Amino acid sequence: MTGVALPPEASPAGAVGRAAGDGGRSFHRVCTLDDLWAGEMAEYEVAGVKVLVVHTEDGRVTAIQPMCPHQEVPLAEGTLEGSVVTCRMHLWQVDAVTGKGINPEHAEVAIYPTRVTDGTVFVAVDGVQTRYSRP
Ligand code: FES
Repeated sequence: MTGVALPPEASPAGAVGRAAGDGGRSFHRVCTLDDLWAGEMAEYEVAGVKVLVVHTEDGRVTAIQPMCPHQEVPLAEGTLEGSVVTCRMHLWQVDAVTGKGINPEHAEVAIYPTRVTDGTVFVAVDGVQTRYSRP
């Protein structure tokens, strides 16, 4: 899996890089694919913002808001099946690749721009707003 090439200074741990075509967003090194295998998800803090990095079973890597859009339960405590994240509390489901709700359909989670370069995952958090569907 490859992403947009980042400048060499983006490679060291914690480094920040800018990728062409991403509106000047700053991408931060988060983890490697050895840290997060396919079928796993884990919460990380990126530039002071918590994100849930999801490595789907078919090899896609995405980063979404870490809290359930229903009542803000950590989604890392739920389950991942394919690209579907299910909250442990009331079983709401969202697709981690699209951010769209599956059950219920009106649910939605924020997606953070994510790149994978040479097995390292980079995430940008600037300007992304979390989404909630409170009753
Ligand atoms: S808090 Fe996640 S489904 Fe209700």
